[in-house]
Amino acid sequence: MMARPSPTLLWRRKPTLMIVTLLVVVVALVAAACTSGSDGNAASDANASREAAGLNPLTDEQVNAALKTYLPSGEHDPYIMFASGGHSGQMFVIGVPSMRILKEIGVFTAEPWQGWGFGNVGTMETLAQGDVNGNEVRWADTHHPALSETGGEYDGQFVFINDKANARVAVIDLRDFETKQIVKNPIAIVDHGGTKVTPNTEWIIQGGQYAAPHGWEYSALENYDEDYKGMVTFWKFDRSSGRILEDQSFALELPPYWQDLCDAGKLVSEGWVFCGSFNTERATGESGPDGVPFEAGASARDNDYLHVINLDKAVEVFDAGNTFDVNGFPVVGLQTLIDEGILYFVPEPKSPHGADVTPGGDYIVVSGKLDPHVSVYSFEKIQQAIADKNWVPDPYGIPVLDFDAVLEAQVEVGLGPLHTEFDNDGYAYTSIFLDSTVARWSLGPPYRDDGWKLEGTLPVHYNIGHLSTVGGDTVSPDGTYLVALNKWSIDRFFPPGPLLPQNLQLVDITQPPSDDSDTGGMQLLYDMPLGMGEPHYAQIIKADKLAPFEVYPEIGYDPAIMAVDPDAPVSGNERIERNGNNVEIWMTAIRSHYTPDRVDLKTGDNVTWHITNIDTSFDATHGFALPAYNINLSLEPGETATIEFIADQSGTFPFYCSEFCSALHLEMAGYMLIEP
Ligand code: CUA
Repeated sequence: MMARPSPTLLWRRKPTLMIVTLLVVVVALVAAACTSGSDGNAASDANASREAAGLNPLTDEQVNAALKTYLPSGEHDPYIMFASGGHSGQMFVIGVPSMRILKEIGVFTAEPWQGWGFGNVGTMETLAQGDVNGNEVRWADTHHPALSETGGEYDGQFVFINDKANARVAVIDLRDFETKQIVKNPIAIVDHGGTKVTPNTEWIIQGGQYAAPHGWEYSALENYDEDYKGMVTFWKFDRSSGRILEDQSFALELPPYWQDLCDAGKLVSEGWVFCGSFNTERATGESGPDGVPFEAGASARDNDYLHVINLDKAVEVFDAGNTFDVNGFPVVGLQTLIDEGILYFVPEPKSPHGADVTPGGDYIVVSGKLDPHVSVYSFEKIQQAIADKNWVPDPYGIPVLDFDAVLEAQVEVGLGPLHTEFDNDGYAYTSIFLDSTVARWSLGPPYRDDGWKLEGTLPVHYNIGHLSTVGGDTVSPDGTYLVALNKWSIDRFFPPGPLLPQNLQLVDITQPPSDDSDTGGMQLLYDMPLGMGEPHYAQIIKADKLAPFEVYPEIGYDPAIMAVDPDAPVSGNERIERNGNNVEIWMTAIRSHYTPDRVDLKTGDNVTWHITNIDTSFDATHGFALPAYNINLSLEPGETATIEFIADQSGTFPFYCSEFCSALHLEMAGYMLIEP
């Protein structure tokens, strides 16, 4: 409550003060009458409006949470979250802490607003890179976005994401937030453990999941132990071209364990890669030869194996040509991995999921889905165990390091721990699926002298999968916000039919743990429903590390090649050329006119149609909607695009600008006339 001076005391001093004081008292009394349960002024004002809409009054704590996420119109979010789009096959760009969706980036699936996959030849070709042996695949199960890094920190240049369903990886250039490349893994048909990048983005890591023969050739489940393989693929990334160099990439042949998420070592552990795994039992399912359902068969043993991979050495072996080919893709064989000391295993408790390297690169945190602990391994101790040959071989001859020799600590965090990220103050945050909580626990030395203990848990709603803290998997996390990516939302929102939105919950992690906080100082701020696919994982970067184009740098810029197309239409050279059945059109778009605005064609013509947006003003985007031919373009300022089609339907087709660009936007139109 606000302390008020005594009115009787002021009464004797000045009449104006008396009036002011009376007003203050009256306002306070009115406000108090209008609120039920809250005593803050902001709350009382808000609660009056809320009551009119039938909402519950806010408590002071809720008002405080709301103020922490509120951005007045025009203020920008200090952080940007790149969230996987799940089944949408796309990526979501979300401001933090406002949790406002800024963009859905078209990645593996066509997206009409951006003209992604609706006639624009550049986008059609990129999407087609993801076809599987000629089969068109236009959806994806995107899982793990990975921002490019320099020196172990997000550099804001690129973001990568994998498609679990078809083992593909996409490259998005953050100058224009557009997808530039999709690569299909030539040896695996599904994946999971990617993408992650090495600290300077030399390599994009794509781990496997459900074992299958390399090249996914047919082999009966009876041949599982011999024919089925695991894998991890290292895609070479070339920053200057902004492309994965497929002919300089390679994979490792792994046992048919189900590899899970990978993380790259950093600082002291740079040059190493760590991947969790499960189903080291090699279960083949209820209808398979062992007759045990996967969920039981793949959880039978007490331990699975953290894969510890010496990437630097693997690269040497690859460079030396010590590989074999699968579908023309080089693979380092399992025996070579053993002989060259590239692959080691560390026992990890039952059915692990995440493998997360601490900011200093000194520890690897693993969580067993069926074990209430996080297990923390010391990179130094792993190196010592390797030097001491302190191992026993697994059935494939791979050295399994001694668990006790490499374990640094275990912390009991709750039932169903999955993934861990970090802050800048020596705390770790682990998602706890079965308990539906986030556990905050402290790392030990050199992070905190009093560490390796649980500091508190925050209930989340519900069944959290991944979580993300700002810069939480880099060498310098920020320690401000955490986002819980919850799989179930049950009662949190209006249910729009039986398929419910996901729930992304924003958490304030700036307050330190204290004895009187069960949550370890964490405060839940905001629930964000997302009904566009399941955002599996997300990474959060400081907004000031991103430097996107405001407009394309020159008129006639082609985003597919990130350079000027020398053949792009520009002001003054608009024209239509006919050569037999081949018609080529050079068109410009500017507020509020297409030049030319009439295109005459004949049935059967092969049409190549170039359009450049010659506007150079910020946000002056034009669309190009062409009926019957499934065509829509988004032409950002300066951008050029080409469409190609056969004029197989005669008729009269008005085309128009599909982006509300100006007062005369409706007049921005023309006619395509196709003579029978
Ligand atoms: Cu151009 Cu609307």
